[in-house]
Amino acid sequence: MNNQKIQHFFHPPSGTISYVVSDSTTRDAIIIDPVADYDEEHGKISFESAQSIIEYVEQHHFHITAILETHIHADHLSGCFHLNKVFQAPIYISDRVREIYENWKDELGLSELYPFDSFLMEGECLTFGHSRLEVIETPGHTPSDLTFKIGDAIFVGDSLFYRGTGRADFPGGSALTMYQSLSKLYQLTDATAVYLCHNYPSQESELVYKTTIGEEKQNNPMMNIRTTQQDFVILRESRDHQLPKPKLLFPSLEYNLTADKPHH
Ligand SMILES: [Fe+2]
Repeated sequence: MNNQKIQHFFHPPSGTISYVVSDSTTRDAIIIDPVADYDEEHGKISFESAQSIIEYVEQHHFHITAILETHIHADHLSGCFHLNKVFQAPIYISDRVREIYENWKDELGLSELYPFDSFLMEGECLTFGHSRLEVIETPGHTPSDLTFKIGDAIFVGDSLFYRGTGRADFPGGSALTMYQSLSKLYQLTDATAVYLCHNYPSQESELVYKTTIGEEKQNNPMMNIRTTQQDFVILRESRDHQLPKPKLLFPSLEYNLTADKPHH
């Protein structure tokens, strides 16, 4: 049964892809990984990007029943708090967000963890309209990474990338755990549609926001069906050693964990 419509929204400054998934039978809809804009120089948060989601939802007369985060993002500020106010819809996030908070609270001098409406765990389900969303825990990038499965579509956050994977070197991250999470996703059928959280197209190239499990199992250079756990850990860790710290790491963590205006 395919009664969902999936609309993506791209945020070029962070290469983030957000989604609105709507149930066409009832017009109930959910939002996944919305983004806030951040002017680092002036410490200003704004919501131009989230506005395009708001306009889309209003145009289609959707009723937003949930705002979901695939994980605590460390490269951009989340639009979830803003959209929570706009739509009066609860925010769902991994239960393991508490570990991320514990990892960073002293170093960043954080206030209390934001009282998210729902802390999700493996196997939990939520429904919107006649659609059903299932939670699959896919830690590795961070302990808090979730994959959301709706019918034959999955929203993978930063676990799987198009022909790549997320990084696994943040506190609490683990290449070994990521291998196990990706192996779990690779057990889904080849036709499973994979909706990505990030991609970084060049000016000339089109945005790829979608792939399939089958395609990645064959063609993903970091993680394919021939990749052993040991290969993956070596490859992922050596790649991560070369990656710079995300530019908005501290403001992102502070805002996304507490909803406080960043002071870092
Ligand atoms: Fe991330």
